[in-house]
Parts: sequence; C-alpha cells; structure tokens
Amino acid sequence: MLPNYTSYKNLPPLAGLCTLEEAAKPGLSVEECVRRLKRFHYCFKRLHQILTARITAEPIYELKTGFAHHAYLCAEHVTALRTRIGEMREPPLGLDEVPHPALEAFFDEILACPTTEELVRGVYIDAIGALEIALQTYMTETNPLTDAPSRRVLRFAQIELDEMNRYGSAVIKSLEATDPPKCREWSDTLLQPLLDHAGCLDGTATPSRTPALPRRYSAKPYVYDPIPKRDTRFTDPWNQGVNAESFLYNEAYPARAKALMMLYKRLREIDVPEMMARIITETPGKPWGYYRDMTRQLWDEARHAMMGEVGFVALGVDWTKAKITLNWSHRLNTECTPLEAHGVLYFIEQGLMPRTGKRYEFETGQGSGLPLIATLQDFDWADEVLHSQIGREWYVPLFGSLKEALAYGDAAWSTVLSNWATVKDKGLTSHENWWPAVYEMACRAEGVAPDPAVLAFSETYEGKRADLKDVGEGLSG
Ligand SMILES: [Fe+2]
Ligand SMILES: [Fe+2]
Repeated sequence: MLPNYTSYKNLPPLAGLCTLEEAAKPGLSVEECVRRLKRFHYCFKRLHQILTARITAEPIYELKTGFAHHAYLCAEHVTALRTRIGEMREPPLGLDEVPHPALEAFFDEILACPTTEELVRGVYIDAIGALEIALQTYMTETNPLTDAPSRRVLRFAQIELDEMNRYGSAVIKSLEATDPPKCREWSDTLLQPLLDHAGCLDGTATPSRTPALPRRYSAKPYVYDPIPKRDTRFTDPWNQGVNAESFLYNEAYPARAKALMMLYKRLREIDVPEMMARIITETPGKPWGYYRDMTRQLWDEARHAMMGEVGFVALGVDWTKAKITLNWSHRLNTECTPLEAHGVLYFIEQGLMPRTGKRYEFETGQGSGLPLIATLQDFDWADEVLHSQIGREWYVPLFGSLKEALAYGDAAWSTVLSNWATVKDKGLTSHENWWPAVYEMACRAEGVAPDPAVLAFSETYEGKRADLKDVGEGLSG
C-alpha cells in the first residue's frame, strides 16, 4: 500500500463504501459470487414456498399472519437476488436449478414436517439461522468495492433475516412454555447433517462423506393441506349469523356502529391468505413476478385481518365474541380449482372498487369519529387498488377480455351454493347472532348506552350467496 495515502482533504474515501485497506484486498470472483447468490436465491425461494404452503392449515392466527409476513419478505429477497444475479454475466440464469440434492432434502423435510413446533424450528432456526451465517460469510469475503451491488442487496436481506430469526426464537419460547421441546432431535440428526452433506448452506465447506441420510417427513412427496384451520379462539367457524354488509349499507345505522362492523369484516379477511396460499401453492409454472405479486396481496390481506384485531382491541372489544367464519376459504379451497378461486377473488374485489365499496368504508370510518378506523380504512382502500392492478396483470390476461374474466369468477362463485342450512342441519353452528354482545361491549367501553335499533339488528346470511351480489358487496378481499 502506498504509505500515507489519503483522500482529498481527508474526505470519506471510495464513496463511503469502505476504507482503502478493505477495498485493496482481493475478494470473491464473479463466478463464486454467482454460485453463492444462486444458493441464497434457492433458499429464499424454498422458504417462501414453505411459509406460504403452511398458512392455510396452521391453526394459530398469530402464526398464520407471521408466515404471511415472512413469505412476503422472502419473495422480495428472491426478486432482488434474481435481479442481481442477472447483472453478473449470467444469462442463462439457471435460477430453477437445485444447487445440491441435500439442500433440496433439507427444505423438503421442513415443508413436510407434521407439527407447528417443528415447522417453526426448521424455518426460523435451522434454515434462516444457516442463511444468516452464509450471508455474513459472503459479506466479509467479497470485495466491498467491486461487489457493492450484491452487498447492498444482502444487507437488506440480513436485516430481515435477523428479524425473522428473532421472531422464530420468540415463538419457540412461547410454544415451549406449554409444550416441551420435541423437535431438537429431528434438527440434530437430520436437518443439520443434511446441511453438512450440502457443504453448508452456501456450499463453502467440504461436503461430509457420511452415507446419504434417509428422508423422514419427506420420504413421500409433500401433499398440500387445503383445509383451513383455526385456533381455539375461533369458537364458531361456520357461523353466518350476522350479515355485516346488510348492516354496513343500511343508511339507518350510525357510522360508529358501522365502524365496529367493518372491524369484523377486516378480521374475517384472515380467510383470504388461507385461500390465496392455496392458489399460489397449487399454481405452478408461472413467471416469478406472479408469485411475488400474489404473495404481496396475501400479506396485505393478513394485514387487513390484523387491522381488524387492532381496532377491536383499541375499542375495548374482545374480538373472539364476534364469530369469525372460515366458511369462504374452506369452500373455495375444497370446491373450486385454483383458477376458479382466483376468479372469485378478482370478481369480489372488483365489486369493492365502486362507490359502495372501499371509498364508502373509508368515508364511514371518517364519519365514525374514530381516527384509527379512518386510518385503517384509508390503507385498506389503497391496498385494494393495488390488488385490482395485480388481478389485471395476472388474472385478466388469461381471458379474452375483462368481461369474460369477471364472468368466469362470477360463474365459479355461483356454483358454490349457500350452505347456511346445511351447516346448521349438521349441527356445526346455530348461526348465533353475536352482534348484540359485541355492540354492547363496545358501548360499555365507550361509556354510552346502546342504541336500541342497532342492538336489534339480526339479519343473517341465510339464503345469500356469500358475496351478497344482491346488495353489491363482497364477503372478503
Ligand atoms: Fe383486504
Ligand atoms: Fe384485497
């Protein structure tokens, strides 16, 4: 090194990237960078796949929304890595290749593991933990000047991997408080040895030469579980006893009570990730942009559910008293093809755009005198406009015209007949009218007397198709 070399007036050198000493060390070759980045890409892609596929049948609401969040983060990192790899002299990209069979088995095992505890450990500790180490190694070994664009991409990934790892550790701590650890053995005797066989996650170590490990949970090919499940707080999941839209669009009712009903509608949207996870999981072979965009929408819908949760808590209402149904996602996932389900989703969301839809909900939020509800509905509306664009990009072009695309969704939804009487006859629900109890709770918290007319509301979904075409509003979305 040239002794006493300094930048002009001691200004920060090298555009603020690093010191001269750091940049003057040779680093990884482009070829080696691409090789490792492709492995990272593969890992994020598999994590996205696993987290998405496990949303529907995961009963715990907090984990459903957590998986939705992290599936989306992984999808964004996949996108960023694809772009970066494409900048590195690399067409043909070969981004669909499996980097190592043991790495494939590692992720297959996590995808197929039977319990929530194992899933959380496999995803957040084994996979994300190993990915964090591999990224850190890359960051220190690559040249910070020559490879600055990769380091920038990975720096963002590191922030979110760290958050996900902490999230997983916290989840494990909470779950283990009630359930003793039983999945360390799987991690120690299969997952970690599989990584050793792959030469670590990034392939920088010498692959272990021990005999090939027999697969355990992935010995048979993974089968996606399309049946939505909920935790014990969802006490009446077939309840269709309160027609939220009838209340919301009736001019006789006050905006403040309507705000409460909108919170129910928001929280009920937890059924959208359940059905979108199924569309994404069972629609192979699309360009990557499809998965990224659909996962963004899935995450938005999980946020909409959490907006409902937050609103209820803020208003002093125990949301478990509002019976959050899974009827919609259950029926779409079991009675429609993935494309039909996408058609239904698009058809319903288009119904949310006109005057009676999201703008109306936002204005009702403003009129309620509750600024929080206005904030929630403001962003819900903005998200919905984005979802409409996503539908126009990935769903509508499959048909000759917008009209045909809408008609396909409408027709698919028409085949799903009202099961109001069926679930009642089977004894699955009595369609209890939960509204008075929830409304009274909100009034109590506010310190006002309930309005007798609002309290008396008792319209159900009996005989209605679940998108309530008659009143021009959608059930979900
Ligand atoms: Fe939504
Ligand atoms: Fe939506």
